[in-house]
Amino acid sequence: MNGPEWLFPLPLEEGRARATALFAETFATEPRGVWSAQGRVNLIGEHTDYNGGTCLPLALPHRTFVALRPRPDALVRAVSAQRPGEVWRTSLGEVTPGRVDGWGAYVAGVAWALARKGLRMTGFDVAVVSAVPTGAGLASSAALECAVALGLDESLDLGLASDDAGRARLAAACVRAENEIVGAPTGGMDQAVSLRSRPGHALLLDTRDGSVRHVPLELADRDAALLVIDTRATHALVDGQYGLRRATCEAAARVLGVGTLREAELETALATLAAHGDLEIDLGADGTTTVSADVARRRVRHVVTEVARVDAVVGALAEGDLARVGALLDEGHRSLRDDYEVSCRELDLACETATGAGALGARMTGGGFGGSAVALVPADRVEDVARAVTEAFAAAGLTAPAFLRAG
Ligand code: GLA
Repeated sequence: MNGPEWLFPLPLEEGRARATALFAETFATEPRGVWSAQGRVNLIGEHTDYNGGTCLPLALPHRTFVALRPRPDALVRAVSAQRPGEVWRTSLGEVTPGRVDGWGAYVAGVAWALARKGLRMTGFDVAVVSAVPTGAGLASSAALECAVALGLDESLDLGLASDDAGRARLAAACVRAENEIVGAPTGGMDQAVSLRSRPGHALLLDTRDGSVRHVPLELADRDAALLVIDTRATHALVDGQYGLRRATCEAAARVLGVGTLREAELETALATLAAHGDLEIDLGADGTTTVSADVARRRVRHVVTEVARVDAVVGALAEGDLARVGALLDEGHRSLRDDYEVSCRELDLACETATGAGALGARMTGGGFGGSAVALVPADRVEDVARAVTEAFAAAGLTAPAFLRAG
């Protein structure tokens, strides 16, 4: 059997050179510059960002690079190293919600969202080279949006990337692109960490007011590491389940008379939902569906306890208590698996095997339904854990997983 497969970041110079070369060979000219943005792994605080809650993601060393050049007209052309020879194109005037198909929607959507803010916008050509695995729950979409946002910001002199307030505005435009042009009803965690985090720190994001705090991780000093396990089980956020979770939370908040579930108190919320009975959920264009009171209560229980776990992890990190952080990751996984029901066989196996092989704790990370898990591992056990997970997947007849070091 083969050993674990590692997915490495692209060194900055190599990423820049590859994006520049792809741009030059596709568009027969030089780009104005190359910009990049990172993927993310979320340590704790899952499915809290659209509930006014907190989360604690960190940026991966893996980046998406975009070589970009503004155009004198409204045309947008995009090429990706993943689809060589295929040029995606549209005109800015054609970009409206519900009308843009294909991966270029992430790119053109950012320009649309910046223009909607009243910022100067033109068409542009862009070439994309990425080391963030796609569909792995590691925010490859946000990395693409954020890299494009940085490229447009600098090459059109928008002046937003120079401070945190401006970066928060760029992040908001990227979220809007994803929600309205791509049609994925995601929260703002991924774009915030890609544009607003600091090296060596996790980002404590409070989505109630968009404020952030930089939480030092100091994992190497503590002889620990974060291992990301890409289960290779496909994950898509536009397939309805993510939207159903979000709509259920919003419907539950309405029944509870709170703006978001962040404001809910657990025992009162559970009692009120039990008394209320089944929830009628409006899914917009997809009609309506019914969610039982029992299911709604479990969804709410996940969100409320998960926000408390974010605080607890921040506290345990400050105390250097990594065993406690690990236990909280395990607890978070159980909550996502049993109450929020967004895990899957591959994610459960990855987490169980990682902890069985010496990880201090492990949980699924990102939206779920496939994608990746994150394990907190003593530094000298990283290879052993990766090997154990690879073997367990082979024994179960599953596609081989891949591994990333998260810093
Ligand atoms: C996806 C979304 C995020 C967040 C997570 C779940 O990654 O893009 O906004 O909701 O799922 O925590």
